[in-house]
Amino acid sequence: MKTIIEPFRIKSVEPLRHTTPTERERFLKQAGYNLFGLRAADILIDLLTDSGTSAMSTAQWAALMRGDESYAGSESFFRLKAVVEELTGFRHVIPTHQGRAAERILFTVMCHPGDVVPNNTHFDTTRANIEFTGARAVDLPLPAAADTQARLPFKGNMDVAALEQLIATVGAEKIPLVMLTVTNNSGGGQPVSMANLRAVREVTSRHNIPLYLDACRFAENAWFVRQQEPGFDRLTPKQVAQAMFSYADGCTFSAKKDAFANIGGFLCTNDDRLAQQERDLLILTEGFPTYGCLAGRDLEAIAVGLEEVLDPNYLEYRITSTRYLGRHIADKGVPIVEPPGAHAIYIDAGRMLPHIPRHEFPGQALAVELYRHAGIRSVEIGSVMFGEHAQHELLRLAIPRRVYTQSHIDYLVEAILEVNARKGALRGLRIVSEPQSLRHFTARFEPV
Ligand code: F0G
Repeated sequence: MKTIIEPFRIKSVEPLRHTTPTERERFLKQAGYNLFGLRAADILIDLLTDSGTSAMSTAQWAALMRGDESYAGSESFFRLKAVVEELTGFRHVIPTHQGRAAERILFTVMCHPGDVVPNNTHFDTTRANIEFTGARAVDLPLPAAADTQARLPFKGNMDVAALEQLIATVGAEKIPLVMLTVTNNSGGGQPVSMANLRAVREVTSRHNIPLYLDACRFAENAWFVRQQEPGFDRLTPKQVAQAMFSYADGCTFSAKKDAFANIGGFLCTNDDRLAQQERDLLILTEGFPTYGCLAGRDLEAIAVGLEEVLDPNYLEYRITSTRYLGRHIADKGVPIVEPPGAHAIYIDAGRMLPHIPRHEFPGQALAVELYRHAGIRSVEIGSVMFGEHAQHELLRLAIPRRVYTQSHIDYLVEAILEVNARKGALRGLRIVSEPQSLRHFTARFEPV
């Protein structure tokens, strides 16, 4: 069959609330044209993030009842540990409440002022947690990835020559670890190839630098490797994922993405000494090492989700449905970051709205217009989020896992194409109040 269907049927539903254009205009004004300030109930289709927004399966909900809420030695921890060990091969599995908690603990233990941590592209919490220790976070994406229109199969790769150059310049002793983010979220949700992983591993081994994966979307990355890299189509997604983890010394993981959990994460390492220090820190803020900051039932949901996410039918549907959205808008003239990634479509708002200058935030203007027009929430990834460090003016449409059906996606396509048809009439925004930090969450705007 050519039609790829959602590989699930729906047992429990959550109603969507329609709003009128007049109501949406009022909500926008109240929120200061910042979509983080909206109430979720006033949104029809919420594409703010794919994080913590997945639909859990019947097996996950059933597993919640099995949650062992013992303070120490919970059976749920041992079930999760067994799943993670089999998948990743790492010796130490340290549960945390989400990905950034794992990052904070890892970097607190490994980084010192003046250190440098390279990544293909740091996610914002990764960068912030590194910089909080006094170290410097450096992005080493492929130079070709700067062109949003370039259709490279593994556009999320790290620039290995730039890594060698950086090591030669700052010295291996200043680089406590190298990270690879799979898939490369801030770089457009693009995958990293096994060949790139292997090449980075070769360089880090030669210089005796540990390599860690930011593995939030490991299964989606594994699917791209299986589909696009010669020799991997004979392996299961799980075998591909196992091969990916085999090149790393540890990982950070947000279970809010590729584990279909609404909360959770973990930190893994093969280093006994580091693991001890990490557990000591964990106890200060997250809790005893067999629960992290989670309930036993959360550990169960993650354990089940980690197995479900590697189902080939699920991954085929996931990547196909995101591509469906991307192709249907891009082929009708909406510039997106090419090629479509797995968890999101990124519209190149700078290119789509060339009449709106950067300081009037084309990505934010488009986000506001999509909400005004059709009740869709998306997120600006550009000058609002990154200030003068922004490389592009993007709008991310992140797709929650197993939540929306094809008719929701068709609705999105229709809304985006309607806005695109009158894009010349869109106006920019100016900031009217701006806090010292976390501007993209709390800044207030007004139309220019
Ligand atoms: N690393 C990557 C690549 C991420 O995308 C995220 C979160 C994190 C780390 C942090 O994990 O949220 O569990 O603390 N990304 C979400 C997003 C928030 O919308 O892209 P967390």
